Amino acid sequence: MQFHIMTLFPDMVKTGLCTSIIGRAQRDGILQVDTWNIRDYTLEKHGHVDDYPYGGGAGMLMQADPILRCYRAISARCSQAPRVIYTTPQGMLFTQSAAKALAKEDVLVILCGHYEGVDERALSLLNAECYSIGDYVLTGGELPAMVMADAISRMVPGVLKNRESGEEESFEGDLLEYPQYTRPDCYEGLLVPPVLLSGDHGKVNAWRREQSLRRTLLRRPDLLRTAELGKQDLEFLSRLGYSPETAEDG
Ligand code: ADE
Repeated sequence: MQFHIMTLFPDMVKTGLCTSIIGRAQRDGILQVDTWNIRDYTLEKHGHVDDYPYGGGAGMLMQADPILRCYRAISARCSQAPRVIYTTPQGMLFTQSAAKALAKEDVLVILCGHYEGVDERALSLLNAECYSIGDYVLTGGELPAMVMADAISRMVPGVLKNRESGEEESFEGDLLEYPQYTRPDCYEGLLVPPVLLSGDHGKVNAWRREQSLRRTLLRRPDLLRTAELGKQDLEFLSRLGYSPETAEDG
């Protein structure tokens, strides 16, 4: 899969995505991450890529023209016009299921916003899909672009090696993951739950399921509304005081 990231800070993005698993996948040829400096595509002689908003208001906006020129340079390298993602706090919430769906693309372009945003016409002309990584405002779209590229990449077959993929992940089946422990079995007086040392896989699985349910109820009760819950799950949750009819958001 190829990512083309349009940004004013290409070094930041390159550095953020060249290490660990995403770096390895690039070296293995499974992923390609190209950064494009939008400033290289301005025709202004001082290299400006931003201007004041029409109608007044605080801050500066990124102009449409350098963005469009940059996109056309990317597109010229692709067999068809690639899908464009724009990172903005005004976007749809980026979720694990969005990551999975986007991982099916061969090529994705991510436009990183800066200043107070971008000229709306750039977004219309690029048919950009707007995504937010959460309800807070960052200084720019580079970190969200890296977050999205990371989450999407790990859904691309071959990026994670067997031992990294974890069949049961946070958000798989809409429940949070159960707590995990490794050696030693006693650390600073804290013991590993004995069931995990029992060798009884049935009991281990039942304990893990209950821990997932308990943790989800405590930390993200909103997820329980859409989670796949069996009769036993609901019985366990009701013992913890949860009832689907009166469930509230987290
Ligand atoms: N740019 C600034 N804040 C952002 C956020 N929360 N998500 C996506 N892009 C952003």
